[in-house]
Amino acid sequence: MVSVRAYAKLNLSLEVLNKRPDGFHNLRTLFQSISLHDSVGIEAKRSRTTRVTVSSDVEIPGENLIVRAAHAVLEALGFAARVEFTLRKRIPMGGGLGGGSTDAAAVLLSLPGILGRRLSPERLRGIASSLGSDVPFFLVGGTALGLGRGTEIYPLPDAPAAAGLLIVPGVHVSTATAFGQLYRSESELTRASSGPAERIAFAWATGEDWAPFSSNDFEDAVFGSHPELGRLRAELQKYGARPARMSGSGSTLFGLFGSRELREAAARQLPGVRLVAFRFVTRRRYRSAVGGVPAGRP
Ligand code: C5P
Repeated sequence: MVSVRAYAKLNLSLEVLNKRPDGFHNLRTLFQSISLHDSVGIEAKRSRTTRVTVSSDVEIPGENLIVRAAHAVLEALGFAARVEFTLRKRIPMGGGLGGGSTDAAAVLLSLPGILGRRLSPERLRGIASSLGSDVPFFLVGGTALGLGRGTEIYPLPDAPAAAGLLIVPGVHVSTATAFGQLYRSESELTRASSGPAERIAFAWATGEDWAPFSSNDFEDAVFGSHPELGRLRAELQKYGARPARMSGSGSTLFGLFGSRELREAAARQLPGVRLVAFRFVTRRRYRSAVGGVPAGRP
């Protein structure tokens, strides 16, 4: 059995721009891989009929994205196989950390190699965006700018290292509902080009403090319906997190600290909430841990 890591992501900044004719919204977001990960065990061999099974330590409601990913890979390869997944879920579901999407991308990156084949990056990108708006980012990981639906990915140099803390409030926020709650006036929809993502990328390049530029357009709406999330974010800030933000459409909050000592001190001030310490994952590390199955392996 091959086992691959599927790392979670954060949105260091997230702007929701205009609604598109296809019903999705144009976004401008900075994605960042973090060390919190699921483990996806994969056993696969060619057979006369296709059968895909998943055994998971956590029950996954609805259709599992890794099953769809596996079927899409087999269809692209043009043959049938038996595929067995063993999923060790660590990334909270419905938390804005891309848990389902990263598991799916791990399948796209590793299943062809396990079956002794290769799919072109172009093909993988097409399959990834058909599975979900966050999936294409997970084909490269590290630090990246996401535009369009979120599927147009521009890999960037790795962001400066940080000691991070997640607060997992256990509140499920539906992405579609969060988008539906956003109200934007026409003038807001056509924004100036110099948004948070550009300022942050510039600050990284010049070695300045980027935290003041971090923002998330979902926060006001989501904190409006879940005030406890806004309070938790304020606490993170109070105990020294720079920035303290919500990831994606929530509900996970994250704080970054100047050192591990500062992070531990903050964690001690936050009893009674689920906390997860993390660090940023570089693209190099991401690629070796996720796409670690060489093409052509029998
Ligand atoms: O692509 P994904 O399945 O992650 O999208 C879930 C839902 O979030 C979509 O059905 C849509 O309502 C909303 N969405 C959006 N604009 C995006 C991404 C998602 O409106 N760029």
